[in-house]
Amino acid sequence: MPRHLLGIEGMSREELLQYLDNAEHFIEVSGRDIKKVPALRGKTIVNLFLEPSTRTRSSFEIAGKRLSADTINISGSESSVVKGETLLDTAKNLEAMAPDVLVIRHRESGAPHFLARRLKTTAVVNAGDGAHEHPTQALLDLLTLKIHFSKLGRDISGLKVAIVGDVRHSRVARSNLWAHRLLGNKVTFVGPPTLVPGEFRDSSIFGNNLHLEADLARGIEGADVIICLRMQLERQSEHFVPSLEEYSHEYCVSERVLSRYAPNSVVLHPGPANRGTEVSSEVLDGPRSLVSEQVTHGVAVRMAVLFTLAAGSPSTNQEQQV
Ligand code: NCD
Repeated sequence: MPRHLLGIEGMSREELLQYLDNAEHFIEVSGRDIKKVPALRGKTIVNLFLEPSTRTRSSFEIAGKRLSADTINISGSESSVVKGETLLDTAKNLEAMAPDVLVIRHRESGAPHFLARRLKTTAVVNAGDGAHEHPTQALLDLLTLKIHFSKLGRDISGLKVAIVGDVRHSRVARSNLWAHRLLGNKVTFVGPPTLVPGEFRDSSIFGNNLHLEADLARGIEGADVIICLRMQLERQSEHFVPSLEEYSHEYCVSERVLSRYAPNSVVLHPGPANRGTEVSSEVLDGPRSLVSEQVTHGVAVRMAVLFTLAAGSPSTNQEQQV
């Protein structure tokens, strides 16, 4: 396995499946009375979150603690970045304290890659960089689908996936696209043309596996999986839709539209969800929603990622450690 986890782009199918297998083993730890294994005792994990986060940050922290690592969290407002220190200086100073893994969230695309090229001994995990990638989110989405569809006797290969909403600004959409491409799944990006990026329109990389669709009903028709995306207002420098009301009128994923066009679908949302804007409460709280499973599986995925990168030696046997 590579030394860092920077994105799904460039990952091999074997690596992806290996992460999912390892994560599936770790699910059981969170169901124990004593939710702790000694796998990363003596290892140090720094979570550097320079953009807001609730789920991802607490999930990485809980994952590290369940593996017995020492974890520390630094958020934007508490870090020296607000005093004018560069990201590289902050990271090098942290590296001087010998952490094993640096988990970073940053609003600039490419920030984790930049650090990975410069840090000498620390493994870097991308916890979301701008609108670029969010690899652990795609892994936890896949783990959730793997577990759900295996109960129905289906594999995660061969699924029809619709990703609906603000694709343009979404790192979740990009990481999921790469992941589903590795699995040979069909992906449709659904949203107003202003929010479905032209960069994919002419792309030969995705070929017949990617479709762009402006009409919600046509975009989700026959889908097995619908991934709802939040409107990333914090990343929008101009108006991409006339108003949120008009947007939700056309693109809010409701039970009415699902039962008609994708009656057998399940629904994912990375959170935070804006109820009534991109998805209705009825769907979010209803039987198709796998949202709380996503959050649960997020811990297992991050345990697998931290274990893989911090344990260091490729020969370390997970079964022995757990
Ligand atoms: C996503 C993110 O930060 O990219 N959330 C998350 O990590 N759970 C999606 C979002 O913020 O809309």
